[in-house]
Amino acid sequence: MEYFERIKINRILLKDEIAAGSEVLLFGWVRTIRVSKNVAFIVINDGSCMGNIQAVVENPDNYPILKKILTGASVRIKGKLIESPAKGQKYELVVSELQMLGEADETYPVQTKRHSFEFLRDIAHLRMRTNTFGAVNRIRSKISYAVHKFFQERGFYYLHTPIITTSDAEGAGEVFRVTTFEPNNAPTKDGKIDYNEDFFGVEAFLAVSGQLEAEIGALALGDVYTFGPTFRSENSNTSRHASEFWMIEPEMAFCDLAGDAKIAVDFLKYLFKYALDECADEMGFFNQWIDKTVIETLEFVIKSDFEFITYTEAIKILENSKEKFEYPVAWGSDIQTEHERFLAEKKFKKPVVVTDYPIDIKAFYMRVNDDEKTVAAMDVLVPKIGEIIGGSQREERFDVLKARMEQMGMDISLYDWYFDLRKYGTAPHAGFGLGFDRTLMYITGMTNIRDTSPFPRVPRWAKF
Ligand code: 4AD
Ligand code: MG
Repeated sequence: MEYFERIKINRILLKDEIAAGSEVLLFGWVRTIRVSKNVAFIVINDGSCMGNIQAVVENPDNYPILKKILTGASVRIKGKLIESPAKGQKYELVVSELQMLGEADETYPVQTKRHSFEFLRDIAHLRMRTNTFGAVNRIRSKISYAVHKFFQERGFYYLHTPIITTSDAEGAGEVFRVTTFEPNNAPTKDGKIDYNEDFFGVEAFLAVSGQLEAEIGALALGDVYTFGPTFRSENSNTSRHASEFWMIEPEMAFCDLAGDAKIAVDFLKYLFKYALDECADEMGFFNQWIDKTVIETLEFVIKSDFEFITYTEAIKILENSKEKFEYPVAWGSDIQTEHERFLAEKKFKKPVVVTDYPIDIKAFYMRVNDDEKTVAAMDVLVPKIGEIIGGSQREERFDVLKARMEQMGMDISLYDWYFDLRKYGTAPHAGFGLGFDRTLMYITGMTNIRDTSPFPRVPRWAKF
């Protein structure tokens, strides 16, 4: 194979590594082809960047294969790179060798016209070849790298937390069960399914979060972060919820809520700046074709001082607003997306960090405040999306934690290891979770999470 001789188009168009006059070998997929008597133009894209290279065949009669090459076909092209006389492209390729590797006939679904995102979701195995989904998936990779860069540069260790767990970390009951039992043939004991007989000998689930294990890491390595897939069976069919999504969860020992919030804000700004600085090719595309305000929005967030308010203050603001909300506002009930968006978009017109939520609506692991009515929790809300980060300082006091878990009716026998962290060398610690697919919605301007994940899983949809 000529794999190592191949020149990727980004080296020509973005990195400017190949001089005009060079012989180059390209592999790629045909975007468009025009054949006339004296000349043929084949526009190819190889996925390495947004840009295409136009190959010019000056003696089409010598290439009978041209009749078979249609949009979508894969080709091998050798030729001389020249400065293009045509407007709008720097280079073109004068073809000396042309081969079709794989045919695509006229049934190829990704023709050059614009397709709806709904249509493309059905053919997610081909949508990555479009400009939009090529850009989304390239930027997904680049921002993943930025996630590691941010934490590694700050001395955090990357911790791999299990995908199969036996605890429901968020306590919200939105777990997928992992079992080898046949649905109609599970062993029972006293009228209940007997998980003692199951593969792991206990009930097991897909992880909704890696946080509890990240706490183990933090209380040994100091600063850690996780970055992996998480699974929630929550039946909310919204444009911002997926059943499988990637989350980044840093966890810091010897850190309180204020420190946690500072890292969250710095991290978000870092990712947005990375997108603007290092992904200009894709960002230019999103700003032109997906959302004309997307660059401006990221620039704005990067220079904003985030607003900090407590939950109690947020409720007062919402109650005193003249806004008509679908969900009622009352101290003690959760802040809904419409409320979050009101705060970030209308009231403060910038990102908002809401802290100190009522104890009864938050997870068991959050640190109880001195008022005993609220916990040291924070949500970071951004305009257009609402919550993008959820985090908290963790309850490090053994007695307080145990009493709260008992009061919530949790089976504390499953958490002896979690208690041990409080029994032996406990320390204040805090962390947060950033939804990666939601962050990509923000960066790209794509309005549906099904389009920022390459293979989305949502209620009633798990194709590919
Ligand atoms: O607020 P959440 O549920 O927090 C946790 O899971 C904590 N264990 C995090 C921690 O403190 N280590 O989720 C964190 C973030 C949300 O702010 C949101 O961005 C994203 O994860 N998220 C989802 N993204 C897509 N689809 C869903 N169903 C999501 N649920 C949460
Ligand atoms: Mg949350």
